[in-house]
Amino acid sequence: MEIRLQKYLADAGVASRRKAEELIAQGKVKVNGEIVTEMGCKIDPKKDEVTYLDQKISTKDTKMVYIMLHKPVGYVTTAKEQFGRPAVMDLVKGVDARIFPVGRLDYDTSGLLLLTNDGDLTYKLTHPKHDVDKTYIAKLYGIPDEGALQKFRRGVVIDGVRTKPAKIRILEKEKDGRFCTAEIIIHEGRNRQVRKMCDAIHHPVAQLKRVATGELKMGDLQKGKFRHLTEKEVKYLKKL
Ligand code: URA
Repeated sequence: MEIRLQKYLADAGVASRRKAEELIAQGKVKVNGEIVTEMGCKIDPKKDEVTYLDQKISTKDTKMVYIMLHKPVGYVTTAKEQFGRPAVMDLVKGVDARIFPVGRLDYDTSGLLLLTNDGDLTYKLTHPKHDVDKTYIAKLYGIPDEGALQKFRRGVVIDGVRTKPAKIRILEKEKDGRFCTAEIIIHEGRNRQVRKMCDAIHHPVAQLKRVATGELKMGDLQKGKFRHLTEKEVKYLKKL
């Protein structure tokens, strides 16, 4: 059966499907010895030989690895960093698989980050149509009143486009009124979305931490540490 080249690369654990498209466009992938750069290419895994950076790849023995990391503030989620800042990949060095982050968290955001070599799952989880709930605990400047909270819940316009409805509830107010702690749940994954939504109601984020993706909770996983997901958790993600 023929499958798209980018899906094959994802299934073989080379990269997420979207990233695989970039690798193809960059001319790093060959099919039967020929560089392929166009996106529509399909291959037959039984007949065709696919290489990435001249290394033969295969989906046969790819063991899928699923990891949850508690990302600290001060790490980037991109693999290579132009400014030489620390990268989350440095925190999962002992893992014997070519894993990559599922989506992203800002440099200044901490919390739950999934990493895997399952490019197909990455593709599904980061695709806008999947709408997985992401739960954050945010320290906000000031204390939003009911009007501001309603505005946030209905969705606010950021970068010219209205966000989908979101949830926000205040968990704690500082006595002097300078800060509060809020639980925020959004479904989309737009760039710096929580920060921009909070800016839009004039209560900017002072600190941001993701504590759950869907029903997967970070629990008491220590900052900078990671753990492998349980079979049950992996099944849950695949079903989403
Ligand atoms: N929203 C943000 O603003 N930043 C993140 O890292 C994640 C969601």
